[in-house]
Amino acid sequence: TLADLTAPQIMRLLDHAHYLKRVSTPWLAPQSARTPRRMPSQSLYNKSIALLFSKRSTRTRLSAETAAQLLGGRALFLGRDDIQFGVNESPRDSARVIGGMCQGIFARVGEHEEIEELARYSPVPVLNALSSLWHPTQTLAELLTLHENAHFFEPALTGPPPTNKPLPELKPLTVAYIGDSTNVLHDMLVTYPRLGHKMRVASPPQPAYQCPKPVWDRVTQLGCDKSIWWGTDPKEAVKGADVVVTDTWISMGQEAEKAQRLQDFAGYQVTEALCREANPNWRFLHCLPRKPDEVDDEVFYGPRSLVFPESDNRKWTIMAAFDLLFGKWDLTGEEVQK
Ligand code: CP
Ligand code: NVA
Repeated sequence: TLADLTAPQIMRLLDHAHYLKRVSTPWLAPQSARTPRRMPSQSLYNKSIALLFSKRSTRTRLSAETAAQLLGGRALFLGRDDIQFGVNESPRDSARVIGGMCQGIFARVGEHEEIEELARYSPVPVLNALSSLWHPTQTLAELLTLHENAHFFEPALTGPPPTNKPLPELKPLTVAYIGDSTNVLHDMLVTYPRLGHKMRVASPPQPAYQCPKPVWDRVTQLGCDKSIWWGTDPKEAVKGADVVVTDTWISMGQEAEKAQRLQDFAGYQVTEALCREANPNWRFLHCLPRKPDEVDDEVFYGPRSLVFPESDNRKWTIMAAFDLLFGKWDLTGEEVQK
């Protein structure tokens, strides 16, 4: 979880993701600067990264595979049915064995304890590619997208900033989250307040949709709770919001609860009508994959939606994390060229 990083470390990852993106995506640069440039870091040269995924993935897997390749390394996709992990072998033994051959482990697991155990016994860094409780790399992509679109929230700024400049500043925002208390929300809760943003959350009143205790403990330890309003009325939650975020009501593994959940979340769909009292310039974010239950087509495909830029940014933020944590084992040093 990003709760394990300091706010400066999180900003360093974002700055680095923006840097990697702007130097390696020449079509984003002004016409005069459109000469393709090679990737500035080859920190994964001759290195192998294990992608230990026990759940499905499109964005996270593609980001990891393409990022590792551009950093000069190789990502090995190890799906649930491919290896012994979780079936014939304990996480402890798998962590030691995989860590003995690879230089990093990016793991998508079921229960969060599994990744804690991997991290405890792995001789190489372990990054969370999604667990029952947390989805840290999603929050990084969201934040990069918001910084890139800072002009929407600043009336004085008239257009997108030049892409060849450092990461644009973001004014303090009000970020509303409507829906289930998912892994995606949890990393937002421990991150946005520390970066100066307020959060307003609405979830149904049943205990199943409230923040799990281990997550809320981290939220309060970090003092983030002071910047979070949490209620049950989605209209109240979006009042004054600059950004509205949601996630699926039926996360992976909850398929059997679908009928009950659709009933419990009635009235929580993000629509223009629901968000009438948000900041008139509000923007929409979603981690994807999306179902029409939680957000209608008008918002999802409309001009407020930043969902596909957010999806693109999974790659650059995961690349930054791979470069600094797997390639250089360093989140604080100055060795990365700016
Ligand atoms: N947002 C996200 O994690 O998508 P995938 O499940 O497709 O990786
Ligand atoms: N909360 C969702 C996120 C998917 C990226 C899930 O865990 O399935």
